[in-house]
Amino acid sequence: MVLDLVGKIALISGGASGIGLRYAKELLRNGVKAVTLADTSSEFAQTASTEIEKEFGPNRALFVKTDVSDIQQFDNAFKKTIEKYKHVDILINNAGILNDKIWEKQIGINVNGVVHGILLGMENYLPKYKQGPEAVIVNMSSIAAIGICPFIPIYCGTKAAVAAMTRSWGVPHHYERTKVRLLAICPGVTATPLIADISGRNLGDAYEESLQQNIDTLPPQEPEYVAKEVTKLIQSCPNGTVWVVEEEQPPYEYVFPERETMPK
Ligand SMILES: NC(=O)c1ccc[n+]([C@@H]2O[C@H](COP(=O)([O-])OP(=O)(O)OC[C@H]3O[C@@H](n4cnc5c(N)ncnc54)[C@H](O)[C@@H]3O)[C@@H](O)[C@H]2O)c1
Repeated sequence: MVLDLVGKIALISGGASGIGLRYAKELLRNGVKAVTLADTSSEFAQTASTEIEKEFGPNRALFVKTDVSDIQQFDNAFKKTIEKYKHVDILINNAGILNDKIWEKQIGINVNGVVHGILLGMENYLPKYKQGPEAVIVNMSSIAAIGICPFIPIYCGTKAAVAAMTRSWGVPHHYERTKVRLLAICPGVTATPLIADISGRNLGDAYEESLQQNIDTLPPQEPEYVAKEVTKLIQSCPNGTVWVVEEEQPPYEYVFPERETMPK
């Protein structure tokens, strides 16, 4: 199935800056009618809304102040989207933080936030308010879900959870009843505030040393590149698949080994 982006409505968590804002712009460039930026930051949203209005004209973006770790606030973002635009076709569960020092909050945003988005999107709003034959949920995982990052093990765990949930929800059983297709994206290091000044956002000295040794060896890619490639994937990639977008190279599917074929 191919999702035609023209005239569609997208809700993007954490859409007021970083990769999320680039998703908003790239989707609008590709025919999406309007985007909801569901973000905690009114300040980022102010700048984002101005930029979007300048490039795309008025009424193309709605900001709803939202903390995704609170399901009522996330629900409100869907409600406001429907009130203004009548429909919702695409959900990007993009909001995330990288900070093992405040790991409970990090799990609340990176894991609970994605669960909230999937529960609200897949089990309620997208099937009811999509315009075409199917809707799409994009979940932001990371290469940290696949590789080993000794300096931020809890962040890695949150991103592995996102990939695992995408695979288990992204199966024909759920697609047939909801017509919602899911994909997970594993970006490599991408130049946004998330990775700027990363020191101190860990469990202490032993992690800091490891962090410093690792971070400078990874060349960042631009967030615009991730947005461009993911906009293509949204349109047609298979349900339940996990994609790596790294070093501005063409995305590739990360295929997990099948447990059933492993030696017992
Ligand atoms: N930048 C990278 O290198 C990289 C790599 C792999 C994966 N990712 C993932 O991509 C996603 C976007 O990251 P980014 O680099 O654009 O980050 P960013 O820090 O630049 O932007 C994150 C946005 O989310 C918002 N946000 C934070 N907490 C929120 C909450 N509780 N509810 C709603 N919005 C909230 C922020 O205000 C901000 O606008 C994250 O899930 C991140 O883990 C980023």
